[in-house]
Amino acid sequence: MASLIDGKVISQTIKDELKEKVEKMKEQGITKCLAVIQVGDNPASTVYVRNKKKGCEYIGIDSLSYELPENTSEDELVKLVKELNANDKVNGILVQLPLPSHINEDVIIKTIDPAKDVDGFHPQSVGALCIGQKGFVSCTPAGIIQLLKRSNIEIAGKECVILGRSNIVGKPMSLLMLRENATVTVAHSKTQNLKEVCKRADILIVAIGKPKFVTDEYVKDGAVVIDVGINRDENNKICGDVDFDLVEPKCKAITPVPGGVGPMTIAMLLNNCIEA
Ligand code: GUN
Repeated sequence: MASLIDGKVISQTIKDELKEKVEKMKEQGITKCLAVIQVGDNPASTVYVRNKKKGCEYIGIDSLSYELPENTSEDELVKLVKELNANDKVNGILVQLPLPSHINEDVIIKTIDPAKDVDGFHPQSVGALCIGQKGFVSCTPAGIIQLLKRSNIEIAGKECVILGRSNIVGKPMSLLMLRENATVTVAHSKTQNLKEVCKRADILIVAIGKPKFVTDEYVKDGAVVIDVGINRDENNKICGDVDFDLVEPKCKAITPVPGGVGPMTIAMLLNNCIEA
């Protein structure tokens, strides 16, 4: 039977560590503030944004909330981001994605001052990660590294297969695992012999957004499996990209969904806000 990698417990530990850090910073007169922007009322975004603001409150940092109507123009959003860039009281700026289709996400992300880019989405942040320089790292992949390290799972020298190549998860994940000295393969929808490729993995990280896509046939005995997916199954129950019931008996350790990777994203965002 696999050991469960409990993201709820690990993220709580990190949040408590951050809370202590914030208290110490406050004694030195340093306060932090995150500006959170949501455009429109995508229900999933509303939940994420609420949880991010709650996280700020828990560790003791301020948050400014901007809830803009769906018909906000790209120019108006650019103007707001520029104002926040110039506002010394604001350390971090987060624009919740997805944005309405009439707004170009790349334009908005590029407008954020890289020094306040707590999501790590700015091309400068991504470039810095690529060449091993200091910069903000995308929160979900950073959270996965913490899950592995805090579960005493060795990364150096291991075969890591990442299923999915998104800008938010797959690509930065591959760079982080490389930085940790894993041997990294990024597999995707055009990869041939996908099952065989995934079966090479000592650490398999799945981020493709397809419910229960990865079955036991994709997993080597004794592998560590990290499931980034959040989907609904045929009974409307939350499930990951991994078929947990089939895969769990085969692997050494696995993240559940919910309660695995999900809670780590906010913990890493809060960490970035303190660093900002
Ligand atoms: N939408 C889904 N995940 C994220 C995230 O990590 N940051 C932002 N800004 N939007 C998202």
